[in-house]
Amino acid sequence: MSAKKVLVTGATGRTGALVVEKLRCFPEEFEVFGLARSPAKVEERFGNTDGFYFGDIRDRSTLETALEGCDALVILTSAVPKMQTPPQPGQRPQFDFEPGGRPEEVDFQGQVNQIDVAQAAGIEQIVLVGSMGGTNENHPLNRIGDGNILVWKRKAEDYLMQSGIDYTIIRAGGLLDQPGGVRELIVGHNDELLAHPPDDIPTSIPRADVAEVVVQALRQPNSHNTAFDIISRPEDDPKAEVTEDFAALFAQAAAVSVS
Ligand SMILES: NC(=O)c1ccc[n+]([C@@H]2O[C@H](COP(=O)([O-])OP(=O)(O)OC[C@H]3O[C@@H](n4cnc5c(N)ncnc54)[C@H](OP(=O)(O)O)[C@@H]3O)[C@@H](O)[C@H]2O)c1
Repeated sequence: MSAKKVLVTGATGRTGALVVEKLRCFPEEFEVFGLARSPAKVEERFGNTDGFYFGDIRDRSTLETALEGCDALVILTSAVPKMQTPPQPGQRPQFDFEPGGRPEEVDFQGQVNQIDVAQAAGIEQIVLVGSMGGTNENHPLNRIGDGNILVWKRKAEDYLMQSGIDYTIIRAGGLLDQPGGVRELIVGHNDELLAHPPDDIPTSIPRADVAEVVVQALRQPNSHNTAFDIISRPEDDPKAEVTEDFAALFAQAAAVSVS
């Protein structure tokens, strides 16, 4: 069997870089390409720029070059809020988006560009990492820079679901920079886990676990056409049973998922 050619966008992001690293551990299974904006950032993170394309998801021509001949696309791009001038002592920090980097431009139009170009290139599967909270228009994250980030992310997910391409949409809870592979992962639907987390656990998950779910989504056929929320039990939770069976996880995801 020939290796699956996979393009990861947002590949210098905190989760995207982990996905690239994990996929590269299986060269017989995956031929991995990254899309990033900054060669310097790629050098710093990976040591060299081998296997990278450079460009911006707002520009379809870069995407066309990068997606040519690929089998699958992993979307890990996101608008990134920046802190405005450092707050005075006692004041809360204010965040905003750079011009051209607002959620409507990145999380919606940028994702739509990727989906459209992927469709034209004959891509078989798109794995998209999104965010929990998208059912609540009044979610505090939507107020950052008046960007409605979760609203635009959700619109892009809807666009993907209607595209006809096989999709896996992983809506993560709060992301943690903690070790992966040591927690039980819990899937849910439409933010129900935010409203009623089991045993009142925090609604969070390590980026490394999200990256592993992305890799497994590319492997497990039953990940196709699922859209689900995901959090984790804390590592020291006595009830936790570390997730190792990803076919079973995607079966649960399919059960809660709606198209
Ligand atoms: N933070 C949380 O707690 C949380 C919770 C749930 C879900 N999520 C979601 O999970 C996903 C991964 O989060 P993360 O924190 O790992 O991501 P991240 O580190 O913020 O990475 C975002 C990536 O998007 C890239 N990007 C932004 N605009 C771009 C453009 N116009 N063209 C090309 N690339 C562009 C950035 O490029 P550069 O590297 O060049 O900046 C960066 O690599 C995101 O969708 C995020 O919203 C986050």
